[in-house]
Amino acid sequence: MRMTFAVLTIAASMGVALAAGDDAIKERRDLMKANGEASKPLVPMLKGSAPFDLATVQKALKTYENAAAKMPDLFPPDSKTGDTHALPAIWEDDNKADLDARFKKLGDDAAAALVSVKDDASFKATMPAFFNNCGGCHEKYRAKQQ
Ligand code: HEC
Repeated sequence: MRMTFAVLTIAASMGVALAAGDDAIKERRDLMKANGEASKPLVPMLKGSAPFDLATVQKALKTYENAAAKMPDLFPPDSKTGDTHALPAIWEDDNKADLDARFKKLGDDAAAALVSVKDDASFKATMPAFFNNCGGCHEKYRAKQQ
């Protein structure tokens, strides 16, 4: 009896702590929008049409790190539908584990780049492969944008 009560209490407190579907969608989209905004100034730097700026690059890498840490918790089952471009595949088979592994890699690669990127040459050597993290996941788990 007491056991049941304890379990119910835990379940109830978790219900409060877990983001409701729509909140999770908004939060993950906001984190991803921030990733997009942070990436914008890096594109001309990669192309060589803007000068390398270490502070801007580090700010972007920290933005990606923050998103990578928070994203895995923002795909509760009730956030499968709504104002989202996330594909249903995320909630199928063992794909959530794959998604989480991809976020882990994004965070790890961002942390490594914070150490290895020091100048224009190391930036250009690191970032094109780094951005495959973004594109690879979108290819599999995000609906094509019109
Ligand atoms: C492991 C998967 C994964 C990785 C890695 C990832 N994304 Fe995303 N991204 C998503 C998903 C899923 C969505 C769709 C979210 C939704 O609509 O609910 C998304 C959406 C976006 C959006 C659209 C946001 C909006 O709703 O307006 C942008 C911009 C974006 N990502 C940028 C990036 C950038 C830049 C990177 C790399 C630094 C990145 N993403 C890495 C999974 C990922």
